[in-house]
Amino acid sequence: MTPDASTQTLQVKDFALDSARFILERARESITARGLFRLALAGGETPAAVYAKLAEIIGDLPLQKVQITFGDERCVTPDHEHSNYRMANESLLSRVPLPAGNVFRMRGEIDPVEAALEYESKLAAVAARLGEARYVHDLILLGMGADGHTASLFPGSPALNEMTRNIIPATGPKPPPQRLTMTFLLLNAAREVCFLIADPSQKPVLQEVLAGNPIYPASLVRPSAGRLTWIMGTPA
Ligand code: 6PG
Repeated sequence: MTPDASTQTLQVKDFALDSARFILERARESITARGLFRLALAGGETPAAVYAKLAEIIGDLPLQKVQITFGDERCVTPDHEHSNYRMANESLLSRVPLPAGNVFRMRGEIDPVEAALEYESKLAAVAARLGEARYVHDLILLGMGADGHTASLFPGSPALNEMTRNIIPATGPKPPPQRLTMTFLLLNAAREVCFLIADPSQKPVLQEVLAGNPIYPASLVRPSAGRLTWIMGTPA
């Protein structure tokens, strides 16, 4: 399966700055077109530098028109060293005047089943208000592991086959094992998904993903009516 026309791969020289500029450009486009920018943040370690750079260059972006969600979260407290919220808060959210109500935090600290249902209904309330069948992100940022996992959708997980829910509990081999994650249903409803891949050694996996090899969950991210972008760092 070759990538279709809506897929683009950007090789960038300054990964953090070029990725931040990409996000800011999409934010401006969304706010101009729809008066709102709904952005899902990726977890893990890679995005921290991008978020910090975004906080630096954000300028006069009308943050009251920005809504933040999370692609996944570890089932830990928000101040835990493994919390994706903590990483995003330290690198971006605490550095910009974003209204607190615009940040939809996944409550990793409570029962995962309850937390998933709670998050699902938060997104559903916005979707209903906007006349959407399901919440439509303007941009979802994702990372990818060496096994091709993305968000907390790991190879062989039953979460890969979820065709009803938007947010579910999931487990995986990457510690901490218990997580909450967006499903492919929600990911593929986005106007655009962008993978942030700083490490060029991941290129072989990326090639397999772009070829549609289903053993890599990231290959199942194909926005049905949107764009798929890969931002790749270049070797130092
Ligand atoms: C997580 C992430 C996960 C991450 C990849 C890459 O919660 O761990 O959502 O999907 O994006 O594992 O992680 P690194 O950026 O740390 O390499």
